[in-house]
Formats: sequence, structure tokens, C-alpha cells
Amino acid sequence: MTEKEYLQSHSTPASEALQWLERQTHLRTNHARMLSGREQGSLLALISRLAKPACILELGVFTGYSTICLAQGLAPGGTIHAVEINDELEDLIREGYSRAGIEDRVQLHFGDAKQIIPQLDCCFDLVYIDANKREYCDYYRLVFDKVADGGLILADNVLWDGKVLQEPVPQDAQTQGIAAFNDMVAADSRVENFILPVRDGLSVIRKLGPEER
Ligand SMILES: C[S@@+](CC[C@H](N)C(=O)[O-])C[C@H]1O[C@@H](n2cnc3c(N)ncnc32)[C@H](O)[C@@H]1O
Repeated sequence: MTEKEYLQSHSTPASEALQWLERQTHLRTNHARMLSGREQGSLLALISRLAKPACILELGVFTGYSTICLAQGLAPGGTIHAVEINDELEDLIREGYSRAGIEDRVQLHFGDAKQIIPQLDCCFDLVYIDANKREYCDYYRLVFDKVADGGLILADNVLWDGKVLQEPVPQDAQTQGIAAFNDMVAADSRVENFILPVRDGLSVIRKLGPEER
């Protein structure tokens, strides 16, 4: 048995809806590797359950796997705003939400995250950043004042396949975007953070309250 198989066999399995969505994502899209998958999905669900957010913002939905995981922790009456630029994914996203029974708690927005964030008049307890890697710094700046004190910002792919560690750092816009984001968060005295080396790196960032700064 491999380490991965052992870990999977000793962790709570994915729900039927998530297993269905993972299969459909492989069958119906060309970029199934973008899906967060069982390991990271379980972690997102656990973090959300611990935080019990009333309002979540997700940037980069793809087929909706992470929306379903994050929604597991919503407080009663809570809402998740899910933002995706590719509207060709809508049917699959909505079918997954319906199978997971979360369609009443999701507000799905199609468009560029940088245009949509300023239109959302909400105070977010949890934000998940997983859209355009070149624009993580912009998302962080745009959303920061809309995050509650003590709220969480989770950012995926912050190791970017190890490219951010290379010397010199590759000049492609995606690696540069992630590296700049990690530097910005590390230097921001308004937050505390920890990078979990799960999958491609998940940065868990907590916004400090005024009395903690
Ligand atoms: C890595 S995938 C998201 C995976 C998803 N969170 C999951 O866990 O299954 C990134 C998604 O961000 C979307 N995206 C890229 N640029 C975007 C933008 N400017 N605004 C909104 N979504 C964007 C892509 O279309 C893609 O579906």
C-alpha cells in the first residue's frame, strides 16, 4: 500500500456528490487537474466547519468541487458567493450544487473576479482564492477590507509546483504573481499566516483584529 492509499483509507471518504463531480469533471472538461480533489477538498471542508462562516467568497470555481466542500461549514442561513470567468461550465457546476444540496446557499457569479469583487457588498468570514495566478495580489487588495476581523483568507497553489523556490525565480507571469503574493502576505502585519504543504501549497491567512495588531 502506498502512503497516499493508506492516508485515503484512513480518512473520511468524499460524498457521493463529490465522487460524481470528480468523474464528470474528467469526462466533460479538458483541465481536470485543476480540480482541488479529495485531499484538499476535505481540508477545505474541515477549515470551513471550524470557522462556521456566515458568508464565504470563492474566486475560481471551475466545476464547483471546492464550492461544495467550503459550503459544508456555512452557518445556518449562510451564503457562499462563487465567482467563475468561464460560463461554459455553468451546467456542470449547477448540477453538482444540486446533487450536493447546496444550490439554495450559493450565489454564482460569472465574470472576471477583479470586476465582481467590488460589486459584492458583504463582510466575508472566509475567502478562497483559486482563480488567475497572475492576479492573486489584486484579489487580496480588493477583498481585504471586506474580510471580517478574525476572518480567513485561503490561497491555493502558493508553491506553484515548486517554481517559487527556484533560483532565479522563473520570469513567467504566473510564477511571478504567486511569488509576489507570498512576499506580500509575509510582509503584511495585519495578518498571521501559515503555508500548508498540501498538494500545491495552501496559504492559510487570518486577518488580525485591531487589538491584535
Ligand atoms: C484552479 S481552477 C479552480 C478550481 C476549483 N477551485 C476547485 O477546487 O475545483 C481556476 C478557475 O479560475 C477561473 N478563472 C481564471 N481567471 C479568472 C478570473 N479572472 N476571474 C474568475 N475566474 C477565473 C478558471 O476559469 C478556472 O475555472
